[in-house]
Parts: sequence; structure tokens; C-alpha cells
Amino acid sequence: MVGSGEWQPAQYGRFRDERSRPFYDLAAGVARHPGMRVVDLGSGTGELTAWLHRELGAAETLGVDSSQAMLAEAAAHAGGGVRFERAEIEAFARAEAGAGRSFDLVFSNAALQWIDDHASLFDAVAALVAPGGQLAVQMPSNDDHTSHRVARALARSARFAGRLGGYVRPDPVQAPEWYAERLYALGFPEPRVQLVVYPHLLAETRAIVEWVKGSLLTAYRQRLAGADYADFLAAYEAALLAELGERVPFFYPFKRVLMWGRR
Ligand SMILES: C[S@@+](CC[C@H](N)C(=O)[O-])C[C@H]1O[C@@H](n2cnc3c(N)ncnc32)[C@H](O)[C@@H]1O
Repeated sequence: MVGSGEWQPAQYGRFRDERSRPFYDLAAGVARHPGMRVVDLGSGTGELTAWLHRELGAAETLGVDSSQAMLAEAAAHAGGGVRFERAEIEAFARAEAGAGRSFDLVFSNAALQWIDDHASLFDAVAALVAPGGQLAVQMPSNDDHTSHRVARALARSARFAGRLGGYVRPDPVQAPEWYAERLYALGFPEPRVQLVVYPHLLAETRAIVEWVKGSLLTAYRQRLAGADYADFLAAYEAALLAELGERVPFFYPFKRVLMWGRR
């Protein structure tokens, strides 16, 4: 587990529109077959899971998430064939496939980047797809952007390395072609893998802090005491402004990898 920390639905939801656009793009690439059995891995607050269920005319949709806080929000979207279950994605995938259960669509938006060892993870996730079924996954692929580089440099700095016990959040996300090869090897003969740069227009440079507080920085928040995390945030914002300057608005090019395959 790369370490997502405990999720804060409200913080994550602050950029709902920007964050949901790739979800809709991913959903648009799924072939519609009414009556599918769907699993949404890392279903979060559940409203997009319920939307997907209705949009596809699915028979059953199961949202899987490990966060109690996210599942508490998701409960409002259960019913009419949608349900949610608390589980770790890789353990869930291995247990289901081990029991001979599979899904017509295995869908995951912005979640698998939190799990390390994608070779092992994709083996497990692919095994959940029924013969003839589909796999659709979207993950951020932005670890080379200044916003991520600055957080890593800070974590490695003398000021924070001790407080973090040497922890630096790793990025398990591989190059797009790696996923294409992997899916092919796992029995998806015509994988479609795209790297898309999403144009996010933020109010100003420092708005990046709010953006990453709901994602990248959760792993640091989990490992730092309150005052240390506040210190980390202040140092992060200062380093970011020093590198990027005050820009109003701030154009944040955000790379994401979207993939689809049919088994
Ligand atoms: C960035 S949110 C995305 C939520 C939703 N798919 C969406 O598009 O809005 C990532 C979700 O993945 C969940 N998650 C991260 N690692 C997980 C794991 N190993 N097992 C289960 N859920 C996990 C988090 O709890 C969080 O709800």
C-alpha cells in the first residue's frame, strides 16, 4: 500500500468538477451492455458509482473502498442494485477471483495509484474480469510535475526526513506503454491506453496546495503530528511559490492515464 492516509471526503470534493471529468471520459469508453455486473474499485463517496450504474443500465454494481469516511458518504447512494463494501482492493480481487467470481466490468477511477507493485495488482484486478468482460482504469500520472517533485524534495530534506522516518511517497504508476503490454499479456488482445493532459485552471498558484491536500499530501498528513504537518504545508507552499511564482490564474496541466480492454 502506497499510503493514502485516511481520506477526507470534503477536502477531496473541493475540486469535484475537475476530478470528475476523467471519470466521465473513462465511462464514455465502456461498451454498453445492459444488465452487466459491475465492480467499482476505490469507489470513494459513491455518487459516481451510482451514476455509472444508472448510465450503464447495470444489473448490480458493487463499490469497494477501504475508507470508513468515504463509505459513510457512499451509504446515501446505495440501493436500486448499488451496494458498497469495505475492503482493500488487492485482497478483495484475490479473494473474489479465488472463489471463482468475476464481473462484466471492472472499473476504477483515481484509486489504483495508491497501491504499490502494479505488476501484482494488475494480475489480481485482471483476474476479476469475466471472459468477454471489460476493464476500465484511470489514474493520475503527474509525478514529474513540480507540485509532486516539491513534496518529494521536502520529504527528503533534513528538516522533514527525521519527522517522516525517512518516508517519501512512492509513485507506483508506470508508463502508458507498460499498461498496454501488461493488459495484452493478461488476455486483453486490443488494449486502449491513452495519456491525457487535463487542463485545470486554478484560481492562483497556491491553490495547488488545496488540490494536493486532498490527494498526494494525505500520505504525509498521516505520518506527521498536527504541528509538523502544518509546518510541512507551510514549507510546501513556500517552495511551490518559489519555483512556480505567483500566477493568477494558475494553469495546472494534469496528466492522467486512461485504459480500457476487453478480455
Ligand atoms: C481519489 S479517491 C477516488 C474515488 C472515486 N473513484 C472517484 O472517482 O471519485 C480514491 C479512493 O480509493 C480508495 N482507496 C485507496 N487505496 C485503496 C485500497 N488499497 N483499497 C480500497 N480502497 C482504496 C480511497 O479510500 C478513496 O476513496
